[in-house]
Amino acid sequence: MDKFVIEGGTRLTGDIYVSGAKNSVVAILPATLLLDVPCIIDNVPDISDVEICLTILRELGAEVEKTGEGTYRISCENVSRYTVPEAQARKMRASYYFLGALLGRCGRAKAAMPGGCNLGERPIDQHLLAFETLGAYATLIKRRNMRGEEYVDAVELETDRLTGTNISLNVVSVGATMNAILASVKADGITTIENCAREPHIVDLANFLNYMGARISGAGTHKITIEGVPFLRGNVAEGSVETRTYSVVPDQIEAGTFMAAAAATRGDVMIHGVIPHHLKDIADRLRECGVRVEEIENEDIVRVYVEGDKRFRATNIRTEPYPGFPTDMQPQMAVLLSIAEGQSNITESVWEDRFKYVTELRRMGANIDLTRDGAIVWGVPRLHGASVKACDLRAGAAMIIAGLAAEGATEITDIYHIERGYSHIVEKLRGIGARIQRE
Ligand code: EPZ
Repeated sequence: MDKFVIEGGTRLTGDIYVSGAKNSVVAILPATLLLDVPCIIDNVPDISDVEICLTILRELGAEVEKTGEGTYRISCENVSRYTVPEAQARKMRASYYFLGALLGRCGRAKAAMPGGCNLGERPIDQHLLAFETLGAYATLIKRRNMRGEEYVDAVELETDRLTGTNISLNVVSVGATMNAILASVKADGITTIENCAREPHIVDLANFLNYMGARISGAGTHKITIEGVPFLRGNVAEGSVETRTYSVVPDQIEAGTFMAAAAATRGDVMIHGVIPHHLKDIADRLRECGVRVEEIENEDIVRVYVEGDKRFRATNIRTEPYPGFPTDMQPQMAVLLSIAEGQSNITESVWEDRFKYVTELRRMGANIDLTRDGAIVWGVPRLHGASVKACDLRAGAAMIIAGLAAEGATEITDIYHIERGYSHIVEKLRGIGARIQRE
């Protein structure tokens, strides 16, 4: 079984580089289905979720060519299929973006219910609300499990015409906001999406589509307006061979993970290729713990370091949609709190089950109690190495940080979760002094 083996107790020091954002690229790649010209996507992270997206594109009939490290030329001209291959759909949460993109492209889409991290119930009612409000008819294909209970196994969407309208989401949802954008960029007329999520990856998807000729405004606020356009070909003239290149935004959560790792190991790390304002809330929480975080003026660098030998201070965190503290950083931050002095409270307001890592962290000596919607962490002076597993992507990232900060050796299994979202994590961390290897 593949695993990471870490010898803890080394301060991380030096320079590390952030890759393109997973949660952006998994929407941008499906969005290429909406284009009427080929395009080049750059700064694509080398992660297995990207591999799945590219496989889906290829199986739908797209031409995908790797033209350099992290660079792909994608042409969807010959796509005629509208069913997302089942095996791939089930491997990844974001496969549902193919529903919005295919619906926007050809008025039909079918996909099995998506897989991905198990963080409790992950409904898609808001996605369906958006599609149906735009004029699509949704059929839920149901099955029964071994206990005879009915569940939704796949979704099929169909429409003669998508028409611009007002979509008011009942829940602030990243996925539903992205899907509403994908389905409406080529709809007739004007669509407004209210109660939107505001994450950097939503702005990135809108920027990409606008760069290719869409008319989307308000991304990054609670209300997005989309004026439907018949074609998406950038300003490339018909018949021209010019291909536009778009670079994926840096990964906010990968950067945050490196920040937490630098802090937990009491290191001194320059994290390059970041957008500092995306990291504000993470930086604020780290500062509350006594960690120094400096944004390097006019550069895309953040320096994270720890001075002296005082223990970290305890603090409280509450996860919230952007610009609040990201749920995708909650497990990594919990590691730091587990070695801080005093009691910290964690409140998780996005996912009902994002604390699977607690059992694993306890194996390393952490003292954490679960509450109805969160956790109470009583800091211990130090963690010790143990055999643990990556229960999901960010839980796995937390195990790496814990292993790096702990005394002794840690072995992490189920690392496929980590490799879904972190590009070359072993090489990158070794570059700043971590003693970690993949076996
Ligand atoms: C995205 O998931 C991210 N995934 C998640 O990152 C992230 O944790 C999450 O947003 C919140 O920031 C991708 O971008 C691929 P949501 P998504 O729809 O879109 C409820 C990671 O580790 N909801 O914003 O699936 C839902 O139950 C992953 O990188 C509905 O009720 O999240 C949750 O409580 C894990 N109905 C809340 O909204 C719906 O139709 C937010 O979910 C949709 C969501």
